[in-house]
Amino acid sequence: MSQESLIIFDTTLRDGEQSPGASMTLEEKVRIAKMLEKMKVDVIEAGFPVASPGDFKAVKAVADTIKDSTVCGLSRALDKDIEAAGEALKGATAARIHTFIATSPIHMREKLNMQPEQVLDHAVRAIKKARQYVDDVEFSAEDAGRSEPEFLYRIVEAAIDAGARTINIPDTVGYTIPHQFGELMKNLLEKVPNADKAIFSVHCHNDLGLAVGNSLAAFLNGARQIECTINGLGERAGNASLEEIVMAVRTRQDVFPCDTRIDATHIVPTSRLVSRITGFPVQPNKAVVGKNAFAHESGIHQDGVIKSRETYEIMRAQDVGWSDNKMVLGKHSGRNAFKTRLKELGFVFDTDDQLNQAFQRFKNLADRKHEIFDEDLLLIVSQTHENPEENTYELIYSEVCSETGETPNARVTLKIEGQEVTGSASGSGPVDAVYQAIELLVNSQTELKLYSVNNITRGTDSQGEVTVQLQKNGEMVYGHGAHTDIVIASARAYIDALNKLSSMIKRSHPQYDGI
Ligand code: KIV
Ligand code: ZN
Repeated sequence: MSQESLIIFDTTLRDGEQSPGASMTLEEKVRIAKMLEKMKVDVIEAGFPVASPGDFKAVKAVADTIKDSTVCGLSRALDKDIEAAGEALKGATAARIHTFIATSPIHMREKLNMQPEQVLDHAVRAIKKARQYVDDVEFSAEDAGRSEPEFLYRIVEAAIDAGARTINIPDTVGYTIPHQFGELMKNLLEKVPNADKAIFSVHCHNDLGLAVGNSLAAFLNGARQIECTINGLGERAGNASLEEIVMAVRTRQDVFPCDTRIDATHIVPTSRLVSRITGFPVQPNKAVVGKNAFAHESGIHQDGVIKSRETYEIMRAQDVGWSDNKMVLGKHSGRNAFKTRLKELGFVFDTDDQLNQAFQRFKNLADRKHEIFDEDLLLIVSQTHENPEENTYELIYSEVCSETGETPNARVTLKIEGQEVTGSASGSGPVDAVYQAIELLVNSQTELKLYSVNNITRGTDSQGEVTVQLQKNGEMVYGHGAHTDIVIASARAYIDALNKLSSMIKRSHPQYDGI
């Protein structure tokens, strides 16, 4: 078999953002997009421009910034959606409009209230309209995994005739099984008469944990684009994860005779950045990017790896961006060493101002912590670009008194929209006391759904990384905070979540919103 190219289409900024609580600001989206570009992702789906003014601006900002990847905007098969996508993508070096309509009996009947012929007409009209803005048009038959194959062949043929260059076959509800999904792809390529005029793509959800398996089965049967997300983020159980797809293909070249353009050394830093921005922690045993993915606990395994790495490792940790150089910098390290190490880790600063800000954070941390590990550096960088001036709440000061046999008490000063306010409260522990004091000042009426602390590196001087999940009126957000003092980390995480709630733009979710 000859070596083929597999197109990697990343939808972290669109489907990934549809994970409840994973909303991102415009600036955060641009940062992630730049990392994806650096990683050499072929297509970046930047959002759904018609969904809200915030989504429109974010797609536009990504389109105006990214030069080496195609930037894609999602649209339903509606004129206003396509117009918004066309407008938002105007500044892109390479732009794609991705238009979709549901094709399964249940979606057509219950959601769209349309006959199959009407759905086909809408699809054709939408593709022709999208072609007025860009040459690169992708059509998705939503819920293709549960669609009648005969109808799917017809609509795909019509979509290609109308000008779609990429045909995406989504398993929208994660229902299919690899051998069935592979068969569906094979049949499409055989039975659609003009199939050779388009690239076939897949977009698999992970409801049964089969998203990566289904995507790879589709590749083996002719799909040449896979849609995926960093850390497998996405609606419900998420999408196929980019890191797993890329490394499966690279590691098992005997099975998948193809390659991607991806520079895999950026995978771990990008995974960290996405986790930090969305507040979704990466589970320790997650393939490729989990912190245990290359850890060997049992003596037999450790012994084997020392003798020969390949005994228990099928990939090299460095190839996906894990560093073997664990202890890197300390209090006496200079700006150049700091910048150089970050460059080795895949981070290049856009401006001197960003470098100075990050270096200042590094110095502050080095004052409290003897050894600065790569994990600490990655965290420093992911905090550097945050825009404090856009935040409603800022933590100015906190003081906690916690004594054996006494009720802990906290005093907190916040800046709320420019005004400093101070409050005190007691709680069942120091963290609870701080949260009570913040609530006294903010009265957010949110519900704390999750609180968790993780040490970033080893040792008692490690930074603690706190994640909180807050819920209000059905909206859910995650907040993140890190510090060597876990009470301060906790306060930061809570305030981060409050800021996200306060700046949250209500987004609509296209799949469940009519056509
Ligand atoms: O899951 C899905 O069907 C989608 C489409 C919009 C491609 O996200
Ligand atoms: Zn999806």
